[in-house]
Amino acid sequence: MRVYASLKSIGSYAPEKILSNKDLEKMVQTSDEWIQKRTGILERRIASKDESTSDLGVRAAKIAIKRAGIKLEEIDGVICATLSPDYMTMPSTASVISHKLGIKNVMAFDISAACSGFVYLLNLSKALIESKMYKNLLIIGAEKISSFVDYEDRATCILFGDGGGAAIVSQTTDPNKAILDINVSADGEYGDLLITPGGGSKDPCSLNLIERRGQFIKMSGNEVFKIAVKTLTNDVIEILEKNNLSAKDIDHFIPHQANYRIIEAVRMKLGFEESKTVLTIHKYGNTSAASIPMAIDDAYSSGRIKKGDLMLLDTFGGGFTWGSALVRFGGD
Ligand code: COA
Repeated sequence: MRVYASLKSIGSYAPEKILSNKDLEKMVQTSDEWIQKRTGILERRIASKDESTSDLGVRAAKIAIKRAGIKLEEIDGVICATLSPDYMTMPSTASVISHKLGIKNVMAFDISAACSGFVYLLNLSKALIESKMYKNLLIIGAEKISSFVDYEDRATCILFGDGGGAAIVSQTTDPNKAILDINVSADGEYGDLLITPGGGSKDPCSLNLIERRGQFIKMSGNEVFKIAVKTLTNDVIEILEKNNLSAKDIDHFIPHQANYRIIEAVRMKLGFEESKTVLTIHKYGNTSAASIPMAIDDAYSSGRIKKGDLMLLDTFGGGFTWGSALVRFGGD
């Protein structure tokens, strides 16, 4: 019998502390008005000193596990997408999360695909579940990105926020609950446009690195903006055409939340109604790999997403990486 992978549940967590545009006005030369007009962001969340990326992931995962109604022993693997891991090399954030949740003796590892991480994880889960290797996977996109943001760089520090999102992807035989199709891709040619240059093997941690502020995210915002709009638009056109669907067949358009102007440009080019487009950018900013699952959960928790609804996910991030996914919501 044919089996499908199903997004069975979703969960998210946003840290309590709010960093508002007004707060940023006191830190760098910027204004609430400029940030709102250029990005659509009003505020973002910042994790506390005691919270690391794994803690944000654990909070989101607990909700997803509960909503899926499965036992910890039924989870066959834990995979985490993050660009702000608890530890730079090991253990993986997924291992830390597994331990904190009490999940034992199953695979746990991280992937690195920047803001596209969660869509990459869906793609991986779909393959692992449809091949009948595994039945239930816990996937997490979590970021304490504030640890890698330079709060002296006004071009980046206004954009990012912390958060976590998680999902249970499970085997099903019901095509009406299935992840229908996913297209993910990358092009390393543009790696330098959005990069954390130091702290890795190329430019290891040193006093000199810290003096150069090389441990922080650097971005050529304007160039990233243009390529993001084009890529986010083209990959949706591609996946819709491939599946003989059009914008009107989609119940929820859920784009990566990087900049309201990017989302609006893409939405208008593709012809999605505003009411079908999920927006969290105003309250969370860009939470990288957590952005898409936090947006799905925001729409689910407010009662917008129902079982069987067709979601179109659209993501873009450092690497460059990008992807789109057609997903029927498989939860209750
Ligand atoms: N406050 C006030 N002025 C700022 C500013 C800030 N926070 N950041 C930049 N500026 C200034 C620039 O210095 C520049 O000044 P100049 O004209 O005197 O040189 C001016 O605003 C315009 O800068 P520019 O970078 O062209 O602005 P922009 O309209 O492209 O907006 C971003 C900047 C970063 C908001 C925008 O480019 C963006 O969102 N890029 C993509 C981000 C993204 O998607 N990243 C992640 C992908 S996952």
